[in-house]
Amino acid sequence: MSQNSTRPVGPLVIDIENITKDYVMGEETVRALRGVSLQIHRNEYIAIMGPSGSGKSTLMNMLGCLDTPTSGRYEFNGKNVAEMNDDELAAIRNREIGFVFQTFNLLPRSTSLRNVELPLIYAGIDPDTREEMAAHVLHEVGLGDRMNHKPNELSGGQRQRVAVARALVNKPSIILADEPTGNLDSKTGEEIMALFEDLYQRGNTIILVTHERDIATHARRTVHLRDGLIETDHAGFIPELDLVALDRP
Ligand SMILES: Nc1ncnc2c1ncn2[C@@H]1O[C@H](COP(=O)(O)OP(=O)(O)O)[C@@H](O)[C@H]1O
Ligand SMILES: [Mg+2]
Repeated sequence: MSQNSTRPVGPLVIDIENITKDYVMGEETVRALRGVSLQIHRNEYIAIMGPSGSGKSTLMNMLGCLDTPTSGRYEFNGKNVAEMNDDELAAIRNREIGFVFQTFNLLPRSTSLRNVELPLIYAGIDPDTREEMAAHVLHEVGLGDRMNHKPNELSGGQRQRVAVARALVNKPSIILADEPTGNLDSKTGEEIMALFEDLYQRGNTIILVTHERDIATHARRTVHLRDGLIETDHAGFIPELDLVALDRP
């Protein structure tokens, strides 16, 4: 259970209503989401849990505007995502959402500083400001002394910190993390969770996808998916409920 305080929530950022997602594969259709409704406000820290195949990544892709639902409504900061053109969608992905992936997804030949500068290049920020902003967030995640290292010169935990810095550098509305500790040992994973806690306490909004209970305990709200539907959505983390949700055949 998280020992730290819960911050008051802000305005609505994500408002989805009854979304479905079908994957059509030849003759077969996989219904990955069957009508999911979810509201997420600024300053929430929410874990999305569920067994493999329950639709977590599919939901994540919808929330991140990386894919479009088959039906249903999605409003991001009050704007209907279905009515956005490609430029508007790209702007949301680049400026409003900070992505953190299980596999870090860093450019292997680039230094930490250049990796973190990348979203700022897309955003059209000038080189000097870019470098200053990237250096600032790298300091914030504790990598002030690793700015000129390349990914293969860093530990797994340090690589994920670079990825978190890259997600933060544009001051996004939300941070979307899909199994961010999945490739880390448990001690390093806990260090990354401590970093997320710090970011949350500083006013960030975090959506964390994980199938690991130990990781989900850090969030202030837990949503369980099962077979493409929300099974439970509750404040905090209730281990008994979680056991019921995960272990039921
Ligand atoms: N690109 C795809 N094409 C076809 N089926 C998919 C695709 N992505 C996911 N699925 C199917 O959709 C369901 C949900 O998958 P996913 O969202 O990846 O679940 P989770 O992340 O919870 O493991 C699964 O049955 C999976 O096989
Ligand atoms: Mg997944």
